[in-house]
Amino acid sequence: MNDLQKNVLELIENGTLLGVDAYESAIDNQTAFGSALPKGIVQKNAIATSVEDVVEVKKIKKIIAKDFDGVVDIDIADIKACAKTTDSFIELFSSKYEQIKNILLSHQGLKNTVSISTALKSTGGEETVIGMIYDIFTTKSGKLMAEIEDGSGRMKVFFTERAGTDAERVLVDDVIGMKGRISREYMFVDDIIWPDVPASVTRTISDPLSAVFISDLHYGSKEFIQKIESRFIKWINSADRDASRVKYLFVGGDVADGIGIYPGQEEDLQIKDIFGQYKKFEELFETIPEHIQVMVCAGNHDAMGLAEPQPKLPRKFLPTIYDFKNLHLTQNPSNIRIHGMDTGGINVLMYHGYSFTSIIDAVPELRRLGMSEPQHVMKDVLRRRHLAPTYGATVVNPLEIDPLVIKTVPDIFHTGDLHSHAVDKYKSTTLVSSSTFQGQTSFMDRVGHKATPGKITCVELDTRRVIVKDFL
Ligand SMILES: [Fe+2]
Repeated sequence: MNDLQKNVLELIENGTLLGVDAYESAIDNQTAFGSALPKGIVQKNAIATSVEDVVEVKKIKKIIAKDFDGVVDIDIADIKACAKTTDSFIELFSSKYEQIKNILLSHQGLKNTVSISTALKSTGGEETVIGMIYDIFTTKSGKLMAEIEDGSGRMKVFFTERAGTDAERVLVDDVIGMKGRISREYMFVDDIIWPDVPASVTRTISDPLSAVFISDLHYGSKEFIQKIESRFIKWINSADRDASRVKYLFVGGDVADGIGIYPGQEEDLQIKDIFGQYKKFEELFETIPEHIQVMVCAGNHDAMGLAEPQPKLPRKFLPTIYDFKNLHLTQNPSNIRIHGMDTGGINVLMYHGYSFTSIIDAVPELRRLGMSEPQHVMKDVLRRRHLAPTYGATVVNPLEIDPLVIKTVPDIFHTGDLHSHAVDKYKSTTLVSSSTFQGQTSFMDRVGHKATPGKITCVELDTRRVIVKDFL
């Protein structure tokens, strides 16, 4: 390595200049540093021919995200209006059916849909219906069949060989399109049409900004890994190229480890007072640069009950930071639009993920893949357009409009809960299953979760490039 290369390396290691990509470009072509510079920095001085020029670039480098306004819009459900009566659950189911039916009606193959009562009167030939799965059975010969319903009636359906493995994926309470022959009072389904998300253009913003995704901090746990928090704080305050672009930070629940979440939890707690656990999060928040907009929802370990949507964390837990302008407490789940000024912004669906364990258990294909690759269950719920397809997969507040229907197609889908880090893409949606600040616990062993702690995900909003930092 020559002197120039050594100096560039030193500047990068100090966190004061460029990043790995730029370094590699510098090594390849010692005189062309300019081509690797981040947007907005000294484009006209782009050719550096000596170490002095590199040092000059260092002086001009500035924090980018600070120079841009942050814009956050959050859809909030009216949880207070929720009455837990039998009628309200009927209304919840009917809202789920109507919302997903409307999504399905935009599919080409479902233009000539008839109601179940009309299909039952059919004298043969092919019909298309949209039904909610009322029950699933296996016949004596091992074939799958189901009873489906809509507002007009119920009908039994057989899934034929042509429906293939799709039939194995069908769950009770799914709302799906079905195409097949009617014979007597039965339908022989050849095609299953999922509501799914469409493949469309990958949306970006024009400003050179990023969003960071973390979850499952579990303050108060004996297994909390201090090193991860310290490295995260150091990084987000540094002049590192990726850190300086951060404008938005998402915290996907399980902020605290909680109290009495499972039998014997007391033994696993370092901080046995719930207020003390949230105090630790307040201390973390106070280290985050104030130009970063922070969105926080609850998880099943937080002191908010399990019923979803879970309400925002209240003032009593976060009294010191509650009024900070850059703190946006949200429900779980939440649809959050960030930076919606010029290009319409980026839609983020943030859901803690409490339903995922039971969905993985219910779908044979997901069960085979296990709990350590959460991207598969994330794709699965997008295909069904519902965060907890079967009633009982999670606890739900019976609102007039089912809040767990994935109505808006997310650009980024952020979840946690399983503590396994994963990044993937499905159609036009970036999938981020966040990691954790907590090591593997005996509780996680019992529920089959496998932790991969310390991974922080950044998504560049102008390119949708994903960068993962490992702070373990
Ligand atoms: Fe968690």
